[in-house]
Amino acid sequence: LDRPRALSGIQPTAGSFHLGNYLGAVRQYVALQETHDAFYMVVDLHAITVPQNPMELRANTRIAAAQLLAAGLDPERCTLFIQSHVPEHAQLAWVMNCLTGFGEASRMTQFKDKSAKQGADRTTVGLFTYPILQVADILLYQADSVPVGEDQRQHVELTRDIAERFNGTYGQTFKIPSAHIVRETAKIYDLQDPTAKMSKSASTTKGLINLLDEPKVSAKKIKSAVTDTDTVIRFDPEHKPGVSNLLTIYSTLTGTGIAELEEKYQGKGYGALKTDLAEVMVEWVTPFRARTQEYLDDPETLDAILAKGAEKARAVAAETLAQAYDKVGF
Ligand code: ADP
Ligand code: NA
Repeated sequence: LDRPRALSGIQPTAGSFHLGNYLGAVRQYVALQETHDAFYMVVDLHAITVPQNPMELRANTRIAAAQLLAAGLDPERCTLFIQSHVPEHAQLAWVMNCLTGFGEASRMTQFKDKSAKQGADRTTVGLFTYPILQVADILLYQADSVPVGEDQRQHVELTRDIAERFNGTYGQTFKIPSAHIVRETAKIYDLQDPTAKMSKSASTTKGLINLLDEPKVSAKKIKSAVTDTDTVIRFDPEHKPGVSNLLTIYSTLTGTGIAELEEKYQGKGYGALKTDLAEVMVEWVTPFRARTQEYLDDPETLDAILAKGAEKARAVAAETLAQAYDKVGF
């Protein structure tokens, strides 16, 4: 196998993935398993950097894995695992902590945003070093490519810097990875505030589509999406963010080009677009939920898939860690 290697992780925090997670990240995971030697993990170590509940974490980690399988990850064609099942992540992270400057880590914008929201006293050192754990996550697999959303670009840059530093200090050990960001679907916006990114941490869930919600709830959210006072259905993110977001969602869910959709809805109103998209959404999400539930109803199968995934991941991770520890002088 000489296919390029891809590595990506997704948080189990919210239970259900939202439409932005799916269209911005998970869909790419499914595509990349055809062209890459792809490793995907549910990052439960990252999930405890903020206040958490053990029972919810355990349940949500399984729900995340079930959704990845339901979305089309095939354990025969990729390696799917839970981060905490592979202890090498934490072991390599320590070395990477010792190679990262305090000032360098302090410049990570995601940390600054999250810690500003929480306040200094509630911010953990774990949250501060989270990007450095991500460095270890990526380098352990000698990944060529890291499929992420635009918001993660800075962390991939940090990974490249630290990998070069390690190689420069201790001799060639790590491959230098690059971010794989898909432009067209890079960002899905909130249905009620189409200038803000759809996010689980939005102040209200009215504009957020959770994939595991009742399909009729999602249909209703699409039908009440904020658009504009114009009537033309045209892709113009700057002047028509709401309509453009609906077109992006429609196009990516069905594989129909934006231009084709603009033509289809020429002379029709926003109501027609929303009604059709609501139907597309229900048709897509109904079997997705059913497949997710099937995995959750069969814990033995899910456990076996995840155990096999962890075994495949560890085979690679342990080899890299042994090389790195040897170079460091352990
Ligand atoms: P959130 O931003 O809701 O907290 P995460 O940070 O857990 O979600 O994101 C998991 C993955 O989904 C990341 O790769 C991220 O880039 C992607 N993602 C999150 N929100 C969106 C969005 N609105 N549009 C596109 N991709 C997104
Ligand atoms: Na994010």
